[in-house]
Amino acid sequence: MTEHNFPPLKNDRLLRAARGEPVDKVPVWIMRQAGRYLPEFRETRSKSDFFTICRTPALACEVTLQPIRRFDYDASIIFSDILVIPQAMGMEVEMRPGVGPVLPEPLIDPSHLSRLVRPDVDKALSYVGDAITLTRQSLQGKVPLIGFTGAPWTLMGYMVQGGGSSTMPLPRLWLYRYPKASHQLLQLITDIVIDYLVLQVKAGAQLLQVFESSGDFLNDELFQNFSLKYLKLIREGVQNKLVEQNIPLVPMTAFPKGATLNSLEMLAKEGGYDVIGLDWTIDPSEARARLGPNVTLQGNMDPCALYASEAEVFERAAELVRKFGKHRYIANLGHGILPDGPITSVEAFIAGVHSV
Ligand code: CP3
Repeated sequence: MTEHNFPPLKNDRLLRAARGEPVDKVPVWIMRQAGRYLPEFRETRSKSDFFTICRTPALACEVTLQPIRRFDYDASIIFSDILVIPQAMGMEVEMRPGVGPVLPEPLIDPSHLSRLVRPDVDKALSYVGDAITLTRQSLQGKVPLIGFTGAPWTLMGYMVQGGGSSTMPLPRLWLYRYPKASHQLLQLITDIVIDYLVLQVKAGAQLLQVFESSGDFLNDELFQNFSLKYLKLIREGVQNKLVEQNIPLVPMTAFPKGATLNSLEMLAKEGGYDVIGLDWTIDPSEARARLGPNVTLQGNMDPCALYASEAEVFERAAELVRKFGKHRYIANLGHGILPDGPITSVEAFIAGVHSV
């Protein structure tokens, strides 16, 4: 059992939608809702380094709550980053302003796997658990708290490429030149991710999202072998460990950005996830038809559509709900809000979703 006694949840739309239960209004949140489009985030960020915020529960909690104070969101997501896992495995990660994440000593070839450590997750990432527990207390049950992780392929991508890239050539090369070492690395990350997600649930996370942000680079065969395989192991591993420890299960979301509809269909059939996130290139009606009635869909307005007029954003949000339907649907953007995303459009987006 979890050791904590949290205030009762007042708004359970997100969890109801994830479990396939009826909702009064469609739940809505936005990826990167705690981020640079908020002046109060930029203020906090001007005083503290990115990973210092992640590692300081009071700061991570404050930043997580900022969007919840300002907007009528139906969920909060803990402020952290997917790259805390490579850090815990012994790799250095810097967040360079205007550049993004940089890993100065990437894994060049399989001989470098020996540099990695399998951390004791409960020790190495305890600060994330502490931030989650503090945030659950501070939320006072207003909305549920989402925990998250990067998926193994996406994390391998950053570890091998040494940072972000629009083409990720080096990790893609690994899949063909070093398939055995690639699987070894993906399995190591998977084992760590499972412990990390269990830690988050014990600390108070009420839904878990797995970000496969580099799904773009995988055709259906690569998706099946190098992404879906590990997404399944994560789902099963988390479920088994929670059952073993007598901890109630929480819904889980997989968001394979850039995955094809065929890949998404395989994920819906075999993955065992309650929710599948869709990027903005996926047609809502087609997704509903192909992925079937037994999975909740999340997404997927183009983040750039927030730059339309407020009236248009409102109308597009309402239209999204009409297309996906109110049942088994969580409204979101098709990827994170951009650093200059207009705040008035965020209000219009939320109001549009809730208007239906
Ligand atoms: O509000 C939330 O969504 C919670 C916080 C959150 C952050 N990163 C904070 C952040 C979450 C869920 C993430 C996940 C994350 N981090 C992903 C998966 C989601 C996605 O976008 O596909 C990825 C790929 C990363 C790695 C990462 N971290 C990148 C590529 C960047 C640079 C982005 C950019 O636009 O510069 C980051 C930095 C980062 N993570 C910022 C925030 C608020 C901005 C950096 C800053 O404040 O200096």
